[in-house]
Amino acid sequence: MLILGIETSCDETSAAIVENGKKILSVFTHTQIDEHSPYFGVVPELASRIHLEMVTVCVNEAMKQAGLTFSQLDAIAVANRPGLIGSLLIGVSAAKVYGFTHDLPIIPVNHVLAHLYAPHLEMEVEYPNIGLIVSGGHTMLTYNISPTDFELVGTTVDDAVGEAFDKIAKHLNLGYPGGPIIDKLAALGDENAYRFPLVMLKKKDRYNFSYSGLKTAVVNFRHNFLSENTQENNENIAASFQKKAVDVLYKKTKFLCAEKNIQRVILSGGVACNSYLRKLFRGDGKLVAYIPSPSLCTDNAAIIAGLAYHVSDRGDLSLDAESRVLSSGFKGKNREIPFS
Ligand code: KG4
Ligand code: ZN
Repeated sequence: MLILGIETSCDETSAAIVENGKKILSVFTHTQIDEHSPYFGVVPELASRIHLEMVTVCVNEAMKQAGLTFSQLDAIAVANRPGLIGSLLIGVSAAKVYGFTHDLPIIPVNHVLAHLYAPHLEMEVEYPNIGLIVSGGHTMLTYNISPTDFELVGTTVDDAVGEAFDKIAKHLNLGYPGGPIIDKLAALGDENAYRFPLVMLKKKDRYNFSYSGLKTAVVNFRHNFLSENTQENNENIAASFQKKAVDVLYKKTKFLCAEKNIQRVILSGGVACNSYLRKLFRGDGKLVAYIPSPSLCTDNAAIIAGLAYHVSDRGDLSLDAESRVLSSGFKGKNREIPFS
């Protein structure tokens, strides 16, 4: 089964063709980093406009790279939730046009679940397992029964972890996106130089994540105590911040593994590219950690086309986009109840 996937949920326009949920025949991604860099973050209106310009370019390129025509495809998959509503709508509209024009079914895909699918494109994944999805918009812990059947155990209560990396980099005037820059700087700094808080939260929130306190602690510390923003300070700040930001992810994941008596973990989302995070999970002799290649951790359409192979839902021309995040405790099959 050949599926063309379309991804436009945030600031990457991507199209990919995946065969039988496993073999990537092509992926073409246009990243909008250059366009959003001047603003140190994603500007939703700008993102939608660029998706509109790029979506057909990406689809054409993915088709060309795979050497296929539309008549050879079996379906069009699209990320229709969650994400920036204007951005999602561009992908959904494009999928409807391609589906209608070429008489192909449309498969709506949950972007968060698609992140969890990333390692399936490179390795065999056993279930049940625990998922840790860490990106610019999400920090989530999930209990996964199958690629399409999961329970959301914990989520972001304020800033997502990637957002904290980006905001601190902005404050230190390091550039955008902050995650890869802080990752590199941290390698040159002392992670114990400054004592930033490890924010674990109280019992009822023990699987939820909060990063606004850590972010504020770093920003205030630099503002109040470091008059000279020397390179050395930035390296130590980056290393000390990264340690606390990532240790929380690791500790909460380990608690959930112990509670569920499961020692298998999927890592995904852009922050799963972080070298300290990857090292911590890889170095844990008790865990089987499914960690995708960095290019599959960040937003891309191969994960959409891959997961779609397992999804039985079908959309029609009334298919809509849904921006909302999920509420903790929700159990579902490639579907979710909006959290309001
Ligand atoms: O999944 P993604 O590409 O897009 C969404 O937000 O959905 O994730 C982007 C996020 C950004 O916040 C970026 O700073 C972060 O992932 N990121 C990293 C690293 N590479 C990307 N964070 C920490 N370390 C990295 N190496
Ligand atoms: Zn994402």
